Amino acid sequence: MYLWIHLIFAILLIVLISLSVFKKKGFMPYMMISRVTYLVFIVTGIILFFKAYDRDPLFAILKVLAALMFIALLEMTFAEKTKDRLTKGMIISLYCALILLFIIGFITAGGRPFV
Ligand code: HEM
Repeated sequence: MYLWIHLIFAILLIVLISLSVFKKKGFMPYMMISRVTYLVFIVTGIILFFKAYDRDPLFAILKVLAALMFIALLEMTFAEKTKDRLTKGMIISLYCALILLFIIGFITAGGRPFV
C-alpha cells in the first residue's frame, strides 16, 4: 500500500511541478501543494526504506539521498520562479533530476508493483 501511495504522489508531483513552473500567473497554490506532498514522500519513504534496505542497502541509501537533493533543487527552482528568474536550463535540469529519481526509485523497488 505505501508503495502505491508513494508512486501515485510521485506522478501527482510531476503535474504539480509542471503547473508551478509553466503557469505565468497563479502558480503559488501549486507550489504550496507540492510542499505538502513532501510530507507524504518522507513518511511513506521512511516506511519503505527499511524493507528496501534489507533488499539492497546501497540503492536504498542512494534513493533517499537522491530524493532529498531533488527536494532541495525543486525549492531552488521555486525560489527562482517566484523572482521571475527561472531559465530554460534550470527547468531542463529539474526534469532530468526527476526522471533520474524515478529510475532510482523503480530500481530500488525492484520494478514493483509492475513486476
Ligand atoms: C521528492 C519526491 C520523491 C519522488 C518523486 C519519489 C519517487 C519514487 C518512485 C517513482 C519510486 C518507485 C515506486 C515504485 O516502484 O512503484 C520510489 C521508491 C522509493 N522511494 Fe521515493 N520518491 C520521493 C521521495 C522519497 C523520500 C523523501 C524517501 C525517503 C525518506 C523515499 C524513499 C523511497 C524508497 C525507500 C523507495 C523504494 C520502495 C521499495 O523498495 O519498496 N522517496 N520513489
